[in-house]
Amino acid sequence: MAVCQLAKMINESPTLRLNEQARILRAKGEPVIHLGIGEPKNKTPISAILSAAARLNAGDIKYTPTDGMPSLKKAIIQYTENNYNRLAGLENIIVSTGAKQSLYNILFTIVNPQEEVLLLAPYWVSYPEMIKMVSGVPVVVAPEDGTFHPNMRDTEKAVTSRTRAIILNSPNNPSGVLYSEDFIAEIVEYCERKGIYLICDDIYQKLIFDGKIAVPAYNYTKEDIESSHVIVVNGVSKMYGMTGFRIGWVVGPRELVKVMANLQAQMTSNPPVVSQAAAEGALLGDQSVVESLRLTIQNNRDVMMNELIGLNGVQVTKPDGTFYCLPEFRSFQMTSAELSNFLLEKALVCTVPGSAFGMEGYLRLSYAGSVKDIKDGIERLKWALDPESSDDIYIGNRKLTRDWL
Ligand SMILES: Cc1ncc(COP(=O)(O)O)c(C=O)c1O
Repeated sequence: MAVCQLAKMINESPTLRLNEQARILRAKGEPVIHLGIGEPKNKTPISAILSAAARLNAGDIKYTPTDGMPSLKKAIIQYTENNYNRLAGLENIIVSTGAKQSLYNILFTIVNPQEEVLLLAPYWVSYPEMIKMVSGVPVVVAPEDGTFHPNMRDTEKAVTSRTRAIILNSPNNPSGVLYSEDFIAEIVEYCERKGIYLICDDIYQKLIFDGKIAVPAYNYTKEDIESSHVIVVNGVSKMYGMTGFRIGWVVGPRELVKVMANLQAQMTSNPPVVSQAAAEGALLGDQSVVESLRLTIQNNRDVMMNELIGLNGVQVTKPDGTFYCLPEFRSFQMTSAELSNFLLEKALVCTVPGSAFGMEGYLRLSYAGSVKDIKDGIERLKWALDPESSDDIYIGNRKLTRDWL
């Protein structure tokens, strides 16, 4: 098969592959617990359903402007004003088919071949692949020893004359940590001074725990949206649990947004109109749904932390937000991919290897699912990994006996 060089460089998404593996196993009747999952279990907010249904009932399902329906963009302008304290114009916003497309649009628009984009490890799996897809070069900045926090010294050291952008994702997938305000202030100041774009992936902005808040990068620049090097990505997937609708957006300078719209016009045209209507409904509807989702996930986080305390040999940093944590499993003498495969095979638990996020020796565990799945999932991990746990376990109605420790 004659696949081109660039296409050959793009790796499969490990998280989507795991979803597929879990689906196949479940279809065979295997009681798999999916601790890799990247979406909450909530129902779609009613305001989103009603808005989408109204559009369907009207039978008005046609193309919209490529960059999104003006009414949705107005709702995004309102969101931006409320949450970022910045006045955006319609031309500063482009709506896309998920924040994934938003990120790709940005990278395509600003990165020349061989230019570098800095990623702060641990980083989301799709960033390096997307950078490669636009012929750019991902450059990874390691976190400060023993933490998931980057520092400015290492970030600046990684910058070269070819550095075009830095991607900032706080709270962070996969670690759940929120970067310090000092770090955000410093990196914004640095990027504005150096003319480097700071791509803020704020998709988990509303899923933060313990009364903490994500301070927007815009707070640390005097520039307005038009002149700032800050570009913001957001969407409805995580804050409303509306992953299947596939609506994300960018807030940025109009000149860049115009190019993103040209790209999108040639690639996909507008995002599906029913999904846009749903996103508008969610943004304009009762926002207590976001708080109730946040509280559910915070409770799940607490359950996950309590369960992990009992898992010998594992260290975990308590997440500030998102629905992930990234415990360290180094003492088990396997690579994270080997360990993840081992746990799926022996204990029927899906986890995501830390190597996919630039953190070998760790596994990403999600607490987006049910409390029962979290408890049962960690119990299975204990059984598979901890010689002090009982040799026997019931998985579904099968009794399994451990014979490898
Ligand atoms: C950090 C991060 N950014 C972006 C996305 C993509 O979101 P969407 O579903 O809107 O494409 C995800 C999804 O998992 C994510 O974790």
